[in-house]
Amino acid sequence: MLKILWTEGRGWGTPSIESYAPLSILPSATVLHYAQSIFEGMKAYSHPNGKVTMFRPDMNMKRMNASAARLALPTFNGDAFLECIRQLIILDRHWIPDQPGHSLYIRPTMIGTNGTLGVQPPTEALLFVICSPAGPYYPQGFKPVPLYGTTEFTRAAPGGTGAYKLAANYAPGVFAQKMAAKAGYAQNLWLHGPEHYLTEVGTMNLFVALKGEDGVIELVTPPLDGMILPGVTRDSVLALARDHVAGKKRLAGLPDQLKVTERPITMGEVKGAAETGRLVELFGAGTACVITPVERIGYLGSDVVLPTSEDGMGPLSRPLWTQLTGIQTGAIESEWNFLVTK
Ligand SMILES: Cc1ncc(COP(=O)(O)O)c(C=O)c1O
Repeated sequence: MLKILWTEGRGWGTPSIESYAPLSILPSATVLHYAQSIFEGMKAYSHPNGKVTMFRPDMNMKRMNASAARLALPTFNGDAFLECIRQLIILDRHWIPDQPGHSLYIRPTMIGTNGTLGVQPPTEALLFVICSPAGPYYPQGFKPVPLYGTTEFTRAAPGGTGAYKLAANYAPGVFAQKMAAKAGYAQNLWLHGPEHYLTEVGTMNLFVALKGEDGVIELVTPPLDGMILPGVTRDSVLALARDHVAGKKRLAGLPDQLKVTERPITMGEVKGAAETGRLVELFGAGTACVITPVERIGYLGSDVVLPTSEDGMGPLSRPLWTQLTGIQTGAIESEWNFLVTK
């Protein structure tokens, strides 16, 4: 594991890479009482030619600094921290499975460690990184999941912290996830406000594809309004789809005519589109799974059934997934790949 200590007086200390071992922190450490904790999730991929890369890690560095600032934790030099992570991955590269679809999951974390029973900015913090080999999300092919349209709990609220990757955003979701699982659904579809705006799926961003009155397919994702985590996968899906539309880089399989929008979308609109045969697909997007297709949504006592195809993927998610995983595994050259080692 990588460890870097920070104190208010001395700033960032010297990074060290040590054996994975328990941390020793005071029972009064602020992280244990006031959830002064942030984290990131990224992956390193081993290519068939032996190269190891990460996917757009600069975005994770930026997001982690935004999370740190939101919690009054210290911010850091993203390039320098990424170089430390690179050194850790080089040391741990034998842990990256070389089977297709496998990767090394990387978990940077920062916690407030000073012992203070008072809510205030931390005066000491620990930035650390641990890793774990990760297998493919869908070893047996894509399996569209059922979602529970959740109206009784909220993940994020206007003016809240949903746009940041704070540990405190996740603990309250576990009970809601348990309730969804008990009702036979895989994940929560977090709905916001009396209009039931779609926000996120479990711990993923979401996309909806609908056919408009003019027959043109619209790929919609909720806007970054403060309640949505600015996902790296979300941004990548938008960029790929927009480059396709602009003719900059056409993706085989994506419809020629496509509208890509970041706008609010309600459950009423999704249900109406499903009932009139205009819903093309709905999918989640995140680092862990890349893309998760959805088969139905439990909503106010009944199920809204969504179209799915035989291989589980939809007509937009299939080419987008192929492109994203092609880049990540090195089959497709891209400036999004950050070279860890040759
Ligand atoms: C709440 C939430 N939304 C969305 C995402 C997807 O973000 P990314 O694509 O950067 O993994 C994640 C995972 O990091 C998440 O925890």
